[in-house]
Amino acid sequence: MYKIVAKKELAPKIKLFEVYAPEIAEKAKPGQFIILIIDEKGERIPLTIAGYDRKKGTVTFVFNEVGKTTKQLGLLKEGDSITNITGPLGNPSEIKNFGNVLCIGGGVMIAPMLLQVKALREVGNAVTTVIGARIKDLLFFEEEMKALSHKFYVATDDGSKGYKGLGFLKEFIEKDRFDRCIAMGPVVMMKTVCEITKPFGIPTIVTLTPIMVDGMGMCGVCRVTVGGQMKFACVDGPEFDGHLVDFDGLINRQRMFLPEERLSSLLWEKLGGCGCGGK
Ligand SMILES: Cc1cc2nc3c(=O)[nH]c(=O)nc-3n(C[C@H](O)[C@H](O)[C@H](O)COP(=O)(O)OP(=O)(O)OC[C@H]3O[C@@H](n4cnc5c(N)ncnc54)[C@H](O)[C@@H]3O)c2cc1C
Ligand code: FES
Repeated sequence: MYKIVAKKELAPKIKLFEVYAPEIAEKAKPGQFIILIIDEKGERIPLTIAGYDRKKGTVTFVFNEVGKTTKQLGLLKEGDSITNITGPLGNPSEIKNFGNVLCIGGGVMIAPMLLQVKALREVGNAVTTVIGARIKDLLFFEEEMKALSHKFYVATDDGSKGYKGLGFLKEFIEKDRFDRCIAMGPVVMMKTVCEITKPFGIPTIVTLTPIMVDGMGMCGVCRVTVGGQMKFACVDGPEFDGHLVDFDGLINRQRMFLPEERLSSLLWEKLGGCGCGGK
């Protein structure tokens, strides 16, 4: 059992959990993820490690309540326990002095991007950060990210804060010479970033989040196409060269179980799992 030692709501439906898991905290590195199972009947869901404290023995992750399991997870309180957490899984991010790095974190993935930015700064990179969300109310970690970045920008899909969309990046990349770009966020956002950076030849690393089951390279559910080759995001990634990723294939695979996912969430709510008494 893994005890939740701290819980925070960062934005509507976006929650942070710090969980006591010393064996994971000891080995965790930026870019890796965990797979958790809430209770004995729960499904396995992957979440990216957004922080760790080796002294306290805790691991932090941030999640968006999008379906049955993440909504159920959001109901847990400080002091409650999660039945199983496996990790750290996946390959750690490559952290070295690249020079001038552009980091773009979108949606819930702003959280693991903060960990990555910290690590990149520690080894001497100059870091420009962009954080983005659909609307301004869904932004979080603005002050934390600003404090770590040489330059800091905000973008929202509807323009309610900062730049409207990511179109501004093109002009801005033309002025600054970036040695590397790292993008973490919704697939569509990462695809847009890659389309912008490719003509400039800026190596761009993306974190792929296909549906996963075992997270250990055995089931094949997380397969993605990168550079025309089939890769398993869990063991070959989750980070890949964004200019080689077949994003449209990934988007189609992510939508594969949409009717089942909707039904599962609906049934759970109807049966009162969310605490609403089935209303
Ligand atoms: C390596 C990896 C790291 C991830 N890190 C995070 C994280 O740090 N924080 C976070 O909130 N989520 C993260 N995800 C996505 C998270 O695992 C899913 O949101 C979660 O499994 C949804 O479970 P659910 O039962 O609540 O929703 P479901 O009922 O399974 O799905 C509800 C909705 O979410 C979409 N969805 C399901 N799985 C994914 C997915 N893998 N990626 C994107 N959309 C999905 C579905 O298409 C559907 O629209 C990560 C996924 C992977 C593979
Ligand atoms: S999740 Fe099973 S092979 Fe990657």
